[in-house]
Amino acid sequence: MRVRFRFLSSLFLLIFSWATLSAQDQEPTLRELATQNDFHIGAAVYTYHLTNADHSRVLASEFNMLTPENEAKMCEVQPQQDRFDFTRFDQLMDFAETNDMVVRGHTLVWHNCMPAWLQNGDFTRDEAIQILRDHIMTVVGRYQGRIAYWDVVNEAIDDNSQIRETVWQQLIGDDYIDLAFQFAHEADPNALLFYNDYGAEGMNQKSNAIYDMVSDMVSRGIPINGVGLQGHFTVGDSNNWVSPANLGRNITRLGELGLEVQITELDVRHAGVATDAILEQQARDYYNITQTCLENPYCTAVVTWGVGDRFTWLRDSNLGFFENPDVEPLLFDVDYAPKPAYYAVADALREALGLDPVSDVAPAEETTETVSRVVDLPEPTKSDDAQLAPDSVDGVAYYAAFPVSITLDGSTDDWANVPRVTVNQGPQLPENNDTSMKFAVVADTEYLYFLAEVTDSNVVYGNYDVSEWYREDSVEFYLNTTGDLDASTYEDGIVQIGIMAGNLTQPETPLIGGGNSAQAQVNAVVVQTETGYIVEAAVPLQTDAWSIEPAHLNSLGFQAHLNGSSGEDRDTKLIWSIYDTADQSWQDPSLFGELIFWNINQ
Ligand code: XIL
Repeated sequence: MRVRFRFLSSLFLLIFSWATLSAQDQEPTLRELATQNDFHIGAAVYTYHLTNADHSRVLASEFNMLTPENEAKMCEVQPQQDRFDFTRFDQLMDFAETNDMVVRGHTLVWHNCMPAWLQNGDFTRDEAIQILRDHIMTVVGRYQGRIAYWDVVNEAIDDNSQIRETVWQQLIGDDYIDLAFQFAHEADPNALLFYNDYGAEGMNQKSNAIYDMVSDMVSRGIPINGVGLQGHFTVGDSNNWVSPANLGRNITRLGELGLEVQITELDVRHAGVATDAILEQQARDYYNITQTCLENPYCTAVVTWGVGDRFTWLRDSNLGFFENPDVEPLLFDVDYAPKPAYYAVADALREALGLDPVSDVAPAEETTETVSRVVDLPEPTKSDDAQLAPDSVDGVAYYAAFPVSITLDGSTDDWANVPRVTVNQGPQLPENNDTSMKFAVVADTEYLYFLAEVTDSNVVYGNYDVSEWYREDSVEFYLNTTGDLDASTYEDGIVQIGIMAGNLTQPETPLIGGGNSAQAQVNAVVVQTETGYIVEAAVPLQTDAWSIEPAHLNSLGFQAHLNGSSGEDRDTKLIWSIYDTADQSWQDPSLFGELIFWNINQ
């Protein structure tokens, strides 16, 4: 008896101390951290998944916002004309309200999940407007005051950055978008109304089109309150086209229109089975995105598209996105254990509260060297008497001979005796790098001419659209014509000119991108050579944006970059100026070097 009692009491003690220990060890949940940050961390939920106890438990304890994954879409809510079914939507509202979660309604108008009666129906414009109004009034009206945010229109811009041709667009016209917002506002004047889309998180052609569209809506008084950036990403995207800087810039410009921004459908997919390396990069992506949103005053929520990897639309083989049955794109694994990405999101939230991190995902304090501008240049000298201009000062100044006239034909004969500068260093440099560039610049009385002779055993083009020109082989010339070499933003007269190697196959439609590049009125010719490719380009000295005078020793801000790819994405970044150590010239012109005119007849 006694023995047994002792056994029981020690067992009791053991359980007791384990319980207190784990309670002490327990870190705050994402939900607690988000609430302390006055922020929302949400998840999309499909009603069917609530029967899984782990799913419901994690959802309620870790998230303070909920999005119906499908329950609010038109095909679910109004499967027959005028026959509404709110059974599942009501269940979700119930769950959200029981657990004190804010609801993001998603979505009233979308080209997918269109009920057949509407898709195949034969309606006049007026009838279609009536259907749109009835639908929105009924759905938004039913939950008036209970749904804080609504995605009113979803994915109305297509992959060519044009208004998508949808059933609504065809029946009503482009103003179906305005009408949807007006009806939603009428149904619930206090709900915050969002436009939501994918592929437009960073700075690109599509996000520009969306920016233009919503800024026009704001200026016409259409009741729009925000933009949702979906965030269906692939591992590594946050080191690339959706860098924190790019995402931050896009959020800020939308915010400055008076709009709120939310990351509405975040997931980070990958190919194959998730290795530790994949899960770590995924964690960094989650960190970068959450941290960027959190630190930006205009960004108020991050919603993941699901709770754990057990249930994700990316594993639904009935959908077009089904590529990888092993994909693990979310914060919790298939058994609802937190993944590295979970701790990464926690760390972004903790950092904002001044708490110590629980993982090592946060990058160490940035120690980007700043190199101050060289003002005292050495006496100009020519190492070879035949040179038309002096030797350049490495990474600091280039002497541009004038007047020298150039024909844009891909031949370098007319560039004889013009000094070349070799660029073979930069922040992104693969092992055994074999890519380099020699550039030269001259002027005559009408144009500034650029030459880039690129050595590259494998010229890669045709993989990316011009909106993402910098992800494959391309040359960049930058100019600051404002006279202020310390200018640190892209004001008028400061341009980044990105010229894709792909121009060699399509000279009629120039593939030219970069900040303010339209101001430069660039003409460019690209030809392939035995060792790589040659770019010749000209920009007028007089344009609407500037008036450049090539007088002896006059100077401009100037920079040259080379982007190299071996097939996938950019893997090489070479930079001329010594001031730009971290590839920031695209957003900070104070990192350019100088171009100094040199009169060959003086
Ligand atoms: C998806 C859901 O996750 C799936 O369950 C459904 O079968 C199809 O739609 N962008 C959106 C979301 O705006 O509504 C989509 O959701 C995913 C892509």
